[in-house]
Amino acid sequence: MIECRDLLKTYRVRERKGFLKRSEIRNVSALRGVTFSIPKGQIVGLLGPNGAGKTTLLKILCTLLLPDSGDVQIADTNALYSPKSVRKRIGVVLASDRSLYWKLTGQENLNVYGALYGLSLSDIRKRSLDLLKSVNLFEFVNVPIEKYSTGMRKRLMIARALIHKPEVLILDEPTSGLDIQGKHDLWTLLKQLARTEQVTTLLATHDMEEAEAVPERLLLVHDGVLHADGTPQDLLKAAGRESIIRIDLTERPAPDSGFNANPIVGGFRVEYRTLDPEQVLPTLLRRLPSAIRVERRDPTLAEAFLALTGASLEDET
Ligand SMILES: Nc1ncnc2c1ncn2[C@@H]1O[C@H](COP(=O)(O)OP(=O)(O)OP(=O)(O)O)[C@@H](O)[C@H]1O
Ligand SMILES: [Mg+2]
Repeated sequence: MIECRDLLKTYRVRERKGFLKRSEIRNVSALRGVTFSIPKGQIVGLLGPNGAGKTTLLKILCTLLLPDSGDVQIADTNALYSPKSVRKRIGVVLASDRSLYWKLTGQENLNVYGALYGLSLSDIRKRSLDLLKSVNLFEFVNVPIEKYSTGMRKRLMIARALIHKPEVLILDEPTSGLDIQGKHDLWTLLKQLARTEQVTTLLATHDMEEAEAVPERLLLVHDGVLHADGTPQDLLKAAGRESIIRIDLTERPAPDSGFNANPIVGGFRVEYRTLDPEQVLPTLLRRLPSAIRVERRDPTLAEAFLALTGASLEDET
């Protein structure tokens, strides 16, 4: 449903170094050959540190920006040659989106956008009432949006992105600025759209809870390159971070058991690090019959993200 091949994008930035100096052109490589495809109905999360190239990629996919080279197909249509027909089939919320009319009410804003997509007023009304309920704005439908809070405006943008029943959703940090309820409502809506209407979604996020809760697949970009592509579990494996298993025992393990146990109040503790806790834990428990308590700490997606992008967290174990 979404296919992109070898996307390259370099921005030319004019820089003035020092007062009265001539400005110079500097090239910033935002995408250095990105290739992936997303099948119909899949929700994919796009992760990457600031400046990784996520917004650049999403802007290219939604036809707002042309790549220097490469190819983009959306719903079997070439986005670079037929941007208009692609625009009818995609719903977009960009992080920098300010495209709402502040003096108009929520309903009027949706009417304007629905009309731009060529929908009849009765279709817009029917569709927007459902959408406004889904994003919890139903009571505010007749309030001018200058009186909305930031989160309410964001929710209206999401409703607006869905007004023409798009087959593909492209969302740049859609839940930044939303409260916990707002986030969970949007997650439920996205999953429901994927399940019932086979909507294909690509969403960029910095929210690791979101990355674990919503997408079935994650793409990790770093420095304009696709670094990892897989399920959240695949990313955890690729990061090679170990789980820590702590087992408290009533008796010290035999000296030839190979376990190094430290004394604690009321017994001993063995600490074990492994990449494969599911496999290892039963064996450990068999070999440590006096175990009375087991604690397991698995690596988090945030830790995997940092490991895969070359950063690290202080180990707080
Ligand atoms: N309009 C622009 N002109 C020049 N350089 C740009 C422009 N937009 C982005 N860049 C540069 O391209 C690179 C990628 O930026 P991009 O906005 O795609 O990153 P991002 O992954 O969305 O980051 P963030 O997480 O901060 O939103 C950065 O180095 C950025 O400075
Ligand atoms: Mg961005």
